[in-house]
Amino acid sequence: MNEAGHGRAGGKLILLGEHGVVYGRPALAAGLARGTTVTVRRGAGPVVVSDRAEVAADPRPVRVLVDAAPLFGLAARDLLVEVRSELPPGVGFGSSAAFTVALLRALAALAGRGLSLADELALGRRLEAAFHGTPSGIDPAAAALGSCFAFERGEPPVVRPVRPGAALPLVVAWDGRPRSTGQAVGALRARWEADRARYERLFDAVAIVVGQGTRAVESGDLAALGVAFDANQALLAELGVSSPEVERLVAVARDAGAFGAKLTGGGAGGAVIALVRDAHAVAGALARAGAHTLVATIENQAEAA
Ligand code: MEV
Repeated sequence: MNEAGHGRAGGKLILLGEHGVVYGRPALAAGLARGTTVTVRRGAGPVVVSDRAEVAADPRPVRVLVDAAPLFGLAARDLLVEVRSELPPGVGFGSSAAFTVALLRALAALAGRGLSLADELALGRRLEAAFHGTPSGIDPAAAALGSCFAFERGEPPVVRPVRPGAALPLVVAWDGRPRSTGQAVGALRARWEADRARYERLFDAVAIVVGQGTRAVESGDLAALGVAFDANQALLAELGVSSPEVERLVAVARDAGAFGAKLTGGGAGGAVIALVRDAHAVAGALARAGAHTLVATIENQAEAA
C-alpha cells in the first residue's frame, strides 16, 4: 500500500443535449483541460479539505468518500482528502464529476489497484448521485475521457469518440452566481411527471438537433453547428431550464457575432457557450456585460484552454 494516492480529472462542456441525456437521448460533450486534483493520505478522517471554500463547506464530497473508499478496500475514517480545483463549482463545468473521478483515481493509487475506464464510468455515475439524484453519467464520462464524444446513458453507456472536422472556437461566459444542477434536474423531472407527452416530444426534438449538430462538428461546419446551438437553446428554454441571465448572455454573444450560443450543463443560470469566429470580440462583449469569460478551443482531440 502507498502512503499517498494522487488523481486528476478534467471538467467538461456539454456542447449539445443536456437534460435530454437524462431521459435517454444522445448528447455531445467535450473534456476540458482545466480540472481537479485530489490527494488522499492516511490520517484521522473522513476529512475533505479544499482550496475552494464552497467544496470544503459542502458535506457531499465526504459522502462520496465514505461510499467510494470501501470499493478499494479502504475505510474513509482513516483517510484525509485534499482537493485542488481549477473549476468554479455550480457553473456547468462538471466540477462534481471531476472531483469524483479524481477521487476514484487517487483511491485506486493509494490502494495500489487498477481502475479501468469502464469502472470510472460506472462508479463515477453511481457516486455522482450524491450531487444530484438522477445523473446520466455524461459528466464523469467527460472527466474520465477528456476528449470530444457522443454519449447515451445506459449500463454501460454508449460512448463514441467524435473528431471535429475543424477546431471549434468557443467562448464560455458565466455570471459567478452558483446554481444547482440537482435543483434544475429535479424541477424538470417534476414538470415531466406532470406532462410526460409534452416533455418527451421536446426531448425527441433535442435528439434531432444533437444529431444535426454532431454531423456539423464532424464535417467542421461551424455555421450549421451554430444553428444547432441556437435550436438547442430554444428547446432548453421550452424545457424551463434557461433563465433571464442565460438569455441575456446568449443575446450578447449573438449580437457580438457568434455563430450560435446556448447554456451548457444544468442551466437555470450558470455558464453559456458561444461558438465564435472572433473569440476576442465575443469575449470582450461578454466581459463588458459583466460576465466571467474563458476562451476554449475544442481541437480534434481535446480542448486547449
Ligand atoms: C449536467 O452537466 C448535465 C445534465 O444533463 C445532467 C446529467 O446529464 O446528469 C443536466
